[in-house]
Amino acid sequence: MTKPERDPYTGLMTTGHEWNGIKELKTPIPRPVKFFLALTILVSVLFWVLFPTWPYGSGYTKGILNIDQRQLVAEDLSRSAALRASWEEKFSTTDLAALEADADAMTFVRSHGARLFKDNCAACHGTDAAGGPGFPSLVDDQWLWGGESETILETLKVGINTRHEDTRNAEMLAFGDQGLLDADQIRALTSYVVSLSRADELSEKSVAQLPQGKELFAENCASCHGETGKGLRDVGAPNLTDDYWIYGGDVDTIRATLRHGRKGVMPFWDQRLNEADLRLLTLYVRDIGAQTK
Ligand code: HEC
Ligand code: HEC
Repeated sequence: MTKPERDPYTGLMTTGHEWNGIKELKTPIPRPVKFFLALTILVSVLFWVLFPTWPYGSGYTKGILNIDQRQLVAEDLSRSAALRASWEEKFSTTDLAALEADADAMTFVRSHGARLFKDNCAACHGTDAAGGPGFPSLVDDQWLWGGESETILETLKVGINTRHEDTRNAEMLAFGDQGLLDADQIRALTSYVVSLSRADELSEKSVAQLPQGKELFAENCASCHGETGKGLRDVGAPNLTDDYWIYGGDVDTIRATLRHGRKGVMPFWDQRLNEADLRLLTLYVRDIGAQTK
């Protein structure tokens, strides 16, 4: 330690600290730094005064603005619960047909239903509900079980091929794997199924198989798909005469369907979504179908 003295080069005083002849200048803190330091102190004091900050034994300082985040969240929650209760009541008790005729209700269906659909259904049926291989489109007017609102609601509640005690059951038998039909018969039936929707595509050889295919169809398939192949909604058997296919209408896919069978699973929702949500989704599914038809 030496006595502070004025440094002849910079004109500043030294601190009096010295190491091996090197002396430390007493450089003042730059003004901007001082300014910001003062500002942060000011802001923090302001913060203490305005908002809840300091804990003490049995509580904390509340601040003069009296803002309480916990209370704000609680208010938010009760506001949205009230909002939900207002439509939940309406959607779980009003007749579906009446709701469908109610423009305000349907506006709500289009916004809230779209959200519910994205969260719960889009993974399988697609965000546009147009389906994909194995997952039926919900926007056409081809229904496995029916497009009436009560039917759709029931499908949503119990699912298809699920563990639900009232599940809808829909099974296309594995005719090939179970030895019910041989390869020849399956070939003839495949040609026949193709002929139901696209007869012009068949080769001469396939056309020759049609009488056999027709007979086999009447014996093995008509009980579920109907005599003309237009499907039966009671058993969820699809129409085979249109150009819409769940699994695919090309020869290879039809043959695979006949050999190995099909048993698509649609989950049941009555334990995951409440009545209002299910009815809202039913209306949503009918609405998107009506708009894209
Ligand atoms: C895990 C995939 C999956 C999810 C998730 C799913 N579905 Fe399905 N859904 C299917 C399958 C597969 C079928 C057809 C079952 C069959 O092949 O018989 C189906 C059938 C349907 C049908 C019957 C269609 C008809 O033609 O009769 C409706 C309606 C339906 N789904 C609506 C919904 C709605 C609404 C949701 C959301 C709450 C949903 N699905 C969620 C897989 C799913
Ligand atoms: C026990 C009833 C039943 C019988 C019998 C039956 N089917 Fe099916 N079939 C179904 C059901 C249900 C589906 C839909 C399965 C699914 O969606 O998972 C289906 C689906 C199909 C499909 C797929 C359609 C698509 O859109 O991809 C074809 C093709 C088909 N059946 C042809 C036949 C032929 C040909 C026979 C006769 C050999 C036959 N089925 C007999 C119930 C039956």
